[in-house]
Amino acid sequence: MNMVMNRFEQFSFKKVLVALIMTALVFAVIAPFSAKAAAADGTYAVNYNVLKDQTNETSRLDSYLTKPAQVIVANGKNVVRLTVKSSNLITTFKVEQNGVLQDATVVSTDTANNTRVVEFQVADLNAKVNAYAEITIPVIGYTGKYDVQLQFDEI
Ligand code: HEM
Repeated sequence: MNMVMNRFEQFSFKKVLVALIMTALVFAVIAPFSAKAAAADGTYAVNYNVLKDQTNETSRLDSYLTKPAQVIVANGKNVVRLTVKSSNLITTFKVEQNGVLQDATVVSTDTANNTRVVEFQVADLNAKVNAYAEITIPVIGYTGKYDVQLQFDEI
């Protein structure tokens, strides 16, 4: 009886061990393909492109925002800072926050160079970020209100 029990215990122990090893192997194989780990805290220079909404084509707005962006990663949050050129023409710059377009925070304004530094949070730097700009060129009577998307390079 004892021997039977021992065998039984041994058998089930082996089974559990094999199952554990198999599970570990599966995770070891899958892990590199799963979601990318968040970047370590720090400040990064990250290149990005401004795309026409819902396309992979470069938007006209692309040349009005400086590159690379400064990305500050801290406490699980990514804050992106970039400079808007021709600041007097790009009258509004919004970035989607929790599904709603919101004005990027103006950090500083340089009147002499006609630029302003703006910042905004980005939850997922690997996904396209919805943004919006309003352009006003009074001398030619041009007003544009456009959705665009920001796509960041990997940190
Ligand atoms: C500061 C200069 C300008 C900026 C930043 C700008 C920005 C934009 C953006 C972001 C778009 C949406 C498509 C895209 O993402 O590329 C667009 C479309 C367009 N822009 Fe402008 N633009 C400027 C000047 C002009 C001027 C001077 C004209 C002509 C008078 C013009 C005419 C158009 C037209 C016809 C479209 C496409 C049609 C439309 O969607 O309304 N843009 N522009």
